[in-house]
Amino acid sequence: MKNLRSLLSFAAALCAAGASLLSAAAAPREIEITANDQMKFGVTAIEAKAGEQLKVVLKNIGTLPKEAMGHNWVLLKPGTDLNAFAMAAMTAKDSDYVPAAHKDKVVAFTKVIGPKQTADVTFAAPAPGEYPFICSFPGHYMLMKGTLTVK
Ligand code: CU
Repeated sequence: MKNLRSLLSFAAALCAAGASLLSAAAAPREIEITANDQMKFGVTAIEAKAGEQLKVVLKNIGTLPKEAMGHNWVLLKPGTDLNAFAMAAMTAKDSDYVPAAHKDKVVAFTKVIGPKQTADVTFAAPAPGEYPFICSFPGHYMLMKGTLTVK
């Protein structure tokens, strides 16, 4: 009986430890980025610490249909050739304009969203560096880009 009781309290302690781990992991810093019909991101510079949990919430505040003015948010590794990535992305509609051949350059991304929709992605800020982010919807990246600086 004593063994059972100590086993139960051990199990309870494990659960408590698990719950506190979960709540720590469930509280990333939220960064809302708007996207509009003028092809502009509301945020073009983000700073973070390596390992910090970030939740990027992309919010499309435009009114034009998704097929004409959809937006996504794609975070890329430092030094990625944005032009080459965006060119390949143009034909990757079925994978939210994230081209399979360039997937190794992608740190995080959201799906493409239409007017009044939101999409989010949660990830740990990678190693220190300058990470470009773009909207890879065809024709958008020249205007829709920014930088995540990890320190
Ligand atoms: Cu866009």
